[in-house]
Amino acid sequence: MSVRNVCVLGGTGFVGHHLVSELAREGYQVRVLTRRRERHRDLLVLPTVELIDADIYNLNALRKYLKGQEVVINLVGILNERGDKGKGFRHAHPDLAQKIAHACHDCGVQRVLHMSALNADAKNGVSHYLVSKGEAEDLLHATPELQVTSFRPSIIVGPGDSFFNRFAALLKMTPILPLACANTRFAPVYVGDVVEVIRRSITDTRTHGQRYELCGPKTYTLKQLVEYTAQIIGGYHKVVGLGRSLSWLQANIFEYLPGKPFSRDNYRSLQKDSVCAKAFPLGITPTPIEAVVPAYLINAVARDRYHTLRAHVRHEQPPV
Ligand SMILES: NC(=O)c1ccc[n+]([C@@H]2O[C@H](COP(=O)([O-])OP(=O)(O)OC[C@H]3O[C@@H](n4cnc5c(N)ncnc54)[C@H](OP(=O)(O)O)[C@@H]3O)[C@@H](O)[C@H]2O)c1
Repeated sequence: MSVRNVCVLGGTGFVGHHLVSELAREGYQVRVLTRRRERHRDLLVLPTVELIDADIYNLNALRKYLKGQEVVINLVGILNERGDKGKGFRHAHPDLAQKIAHACHDCGVQRVLHMSALNADAKNGVSHYLVSKGEAEDLLHATPELQVTSFRPSIIVGPGDSFFNRFAALLKMTPILPLACANTRFAPVYVGDVVEVIRRSITDTRTHGQRYELCGPKTYTLKQLVEYTAQIIGGYHKVVGLGRSLSWLQANIFEYLPGKPFSRDNYRSLQKDSVCAKAFPLGITPTPIEAVVPAYLINAVARDRYHTLRAHVRHEQPPV
């Protein structure tokens, strides 16, 4: 199956940046729809990438930009919403999936690759996030004229991730880190492996109708992962796992902080381990985190030190 034109929704995010670069390297014409083109001009240096300001939640806009495309890749996802009733999640996940299905029908696009999440479950999901992700996935797979492949990853890690980078930043702010849901288990998957499975799925017809779980080769508790982060960045750090009630209390406090660093819905999602029941698909051997995380976290730490030093030197310089 030969494909030339690919449209990516959510292509400006963490996974999107890695995927779009890889698709451009492979010679695909990649159309990325974004809410804020100006913020992602770095993608424009890629020669076959077109970055378009579009309201992807508007069916007419979707129709306009899906015309002539052969494959749609949906990477849109949110981890938090305003309030705690599930409305924001429904908007970004199943409602958007429904519009994608409509627009694909109207534009004659048959192939959709969809990023879901491990534990996504429309009926028994433990959080609004996981229910809405399950609904979006089911909706696309139930659309008869579409050939859909879904990806259900545990946490995705790699350069630019918001997992290790965020914990590294938190650990730099405080020597003692109280950690909610510390015993929840994860099997972090390297973004390069996620990109590879998506890339191969574009043209591999055996992947049609499949829902692939994506996990790294090893599982860890959240506490082990944060302690591993501390070990890489160096210095004194103590990670203190909170019990159930203190974790819930933390979620209730952080729910109201700017940017919701941790929410009630995140707490609910963390009530279930994020580990796979099946092997990594398409014969790909998943990369251990130990082979990739130290390089980019150490670089991030070095960059931070450099910026602090520069700011300090500028501050110290006598006025001319
Ligand atoms: N990262 C992980 O560990 C992980 C784990 C499991 C599943 N996933 C799933 O993988 C996909 C990609 O994850 P990611 O880490 O790359 O996410 P990300 O960095 O947050 O990127 C998501 C993209 O979605 C777009 N978007 C559209 N509507 C949005 C809205 N209402 N609010 C926020 N963003 C919106 C944004 O693009 P514009 O701003 O350009 O419009 C953004 O670039 C998501 O579906 C996510 O649920 C990720």
